[in-house]
Amino acid sequence: MYRKLTNMDIDNKRIILRVDYNIPIKDGIIMDDNKIIASLETINYLLSHNCSIIILSHLGKIKKEEDKSKNTLAPVAKKLAELLNRPVTFCPETRSTKLEQIAQNLQPQDIIMLENTRFEDLPNKLESNNDPQLASYWASLADVFVMDAFGSAHRAHASTNGIAKFIPSCIGLLIEKELTLLDKYLLNPSRPFTVIMGGAKIEDKLSLIKSLLPKCDYLLLTGCLANTCLKALKLNIGASLASEDETILNEVYNLLMQYKRKIMLPLDVIVGNTYDKNYVEYKYLTEINQDDQIFDIGNKTIEKFQTAINVSKTIFVNGTAGLYENEKYANGTKALFNILSKSSANTIIGGGDSVSAAINLGYKDKMTYLSTGGGATLEYIANHQLEALEIFKESDNNEILNM
Ligand code: 3PG
Repeated sequence: MYRKLTNMDIDNKRIILRVDYNIPIKDGIIMDDNKIIASLETINYLLSHNCSIIILSHLGKIKKEEDKSKNTLAPVAKKLAELLNRPVTFCPETRSTKLEQIAQNLQPQDIIMLENTRFEDLPNKLESNNDPQLASYWASLADVFVMDAFGSAHRAHASTNGIAKFIPSCIGLLIEKELTLLDKYLLNPSRPFTVIMGGAKIEDKLSLIKSLLPKCDYLLLTGCLANTCLKALKLNIGASLASEDETILNEVYNLLMQYKRKIMLPLDVIVGNTYDKNYVEYKYLTEINQDDQIFDIGNKTIEKFQTAINVSKTIFVNGTAGLYENEKYANGTKALFNILSKSSANTIIGGGDSVSAAINLGYKDKMTYLSTGGGATLEYIANHQLEALEIFKESDNNEILNM
């Protein structure tokens, strides 16, 4: 259905390759290189066809000038060079005459990586709004566009979708593999089908949750998503992160009423606060103080979630149960992974943070598979399509090629 890399004439061509290198970086140090490793198969395939490669990726969100320095792709280019054992030239720009000259002079098997595509979001969100001029500029640098950023396939941005309007294009080997696995395990999942979601702000995920609920049998919520649900139920969550928006809280309340039997929320939690590192307490929801912040789930919640996990035949996880990087709040995440590792269900972990956690906590080989897509996989489960990829479907692509 999609135009595939293996069917493209790419020998000796200049390729513009979109990958998803949105990875955790702390003080310039890469905390998890899983997504870089996942991109190597396509890069090596392109090199074996004597292509030169211009790599694009986003990193984080760029809303203000100060966001740029902590979201540069420079350390990622260095890491990629190490993993490939060949030079990767980092161009600290997304558009410039110098960049055009470098692109023009690329030799077979040369690799360059441009700066974070979302630097183009300042001031006018050109990347995120799929600006045609930006997309055509990037397209003008190469002969063929290969889209392999599965983690970003739910976002039709200039670098994930727009470029395909201007030059021959296809999906890469990672996206092809991810879609095959998603179709196998999640398109018509063996039931009961449980989704475990944590972390993210509910504003970003509410419409997704609405589409997801009719498709799954249980939805287990932790993190800010759970906090907002508890708040919508008028429970005291202290100073925990949750939506403040009354319209959202009302919508969440209605969903909780409509899907009472499907949605599972924490019963007990581990709280801390930002100003006293030594303050860590186990609490029932009724015991939370104004200053408490929920940072993990408690044992009663783990037991409750286990009842759903034990009967499930397919489980998809996106988001960790707590701030697992801090040992004091890692128990919920560890316990859930441990239960999943013993389950006979198909267990799929998706998204940067969740996959990092599974790898760091030693569960890499104990799950059915680890997907580079979090939001993308949820979107695929909920709506059975990914916005950025529609243009790569065989018929659309033919139209472009015949233009
Ligand atoms: C991810 O890590 O989930 C993807 O890279 C998408 O990132 P985004 O939510 O910032 O678009």
